[in-house]
Amino acid sequence: MTKQKIIYKSERELQEAILEEKRKGIPDLEIGKKYGVNFKYIERLITRSQGLNISNLKIYKKINSLYPKDFREEKTTVWSFKQRGNWATHSGEYRGNWSPYIPRNVILKYSKPGELVLDYFCGAGTTAVESQQLTFNDEETHPQIYEPQVLISDARDLYIIEDNSIDLICALPPNAGIINYSSKVEGGLS
Ligand SMILES: C[S@@+](CC[C@H](N)C(=O)[O-])C[C@H]1O[C@@H](n2cnc3c(N)ncnc32)[C@H](O)[C@@H]1O
Repeated sequence: MTKQKIIYKSERELQEAILEEKRKGIPDLEIGKKYGVNFKYIERLITRSQGLNISNLKIYKKINSLYPKDFREEKTTVWSFKQRGNWATHSGEYRGNWSPYIPRNVILKYSKPGELVLDYFCGAGTTAVESQQLTFNDEETHPQIYEPQVLISDARDLYIIEDNSIDLICALPPNAGIINYSSKVEGGLS
């Protein structure tokens, strides 16, 4: 923690005030300046109080579209997207999530409808939403409706997954030492 600008009776009071600011949607930078705390402090506080690392505590999202507008599969080895992508439930609120354009392109390029995709670093579930969307998208040729399955385990030991049952792994590992995804979770690699 860096120097505090507002004096609070206790650390707990300070933390409650910061969480309240987060609920109002005040950006971390502003909170940091007002309370004299750094990004890591805010991040750890949110992770501890919410159980996961998200940017905005007041999360609601009106879904305007289930699919990206004018989507075109990437054709070269350099992928670049004008926006990060906010269709379906996607948003940047979960820190360190990836743009949905990435799993969308990976799944389209490296799997066929009906194949099983594994993301063993599921995070906020971007890949799961994309796998599902892609199957819905292909309703005429592949009418099966796929529901993503969420299993809680440790990516370092995939004993819960049957051998040779996965067709594609599409996963973004934790950014070591950069984002504190979880607090006191055994096996957490962040
Ligand atoms: C870079 S994030 C993945 C973000 C995800 N692609 C998304 O779009 O939301 C890495 C995730 O791996 C999780 N993680 C860390 N250690 C893990 C472990 N041993 N097993 C499974 N997941 C782990 C973290 O909690 C975090 O949610």
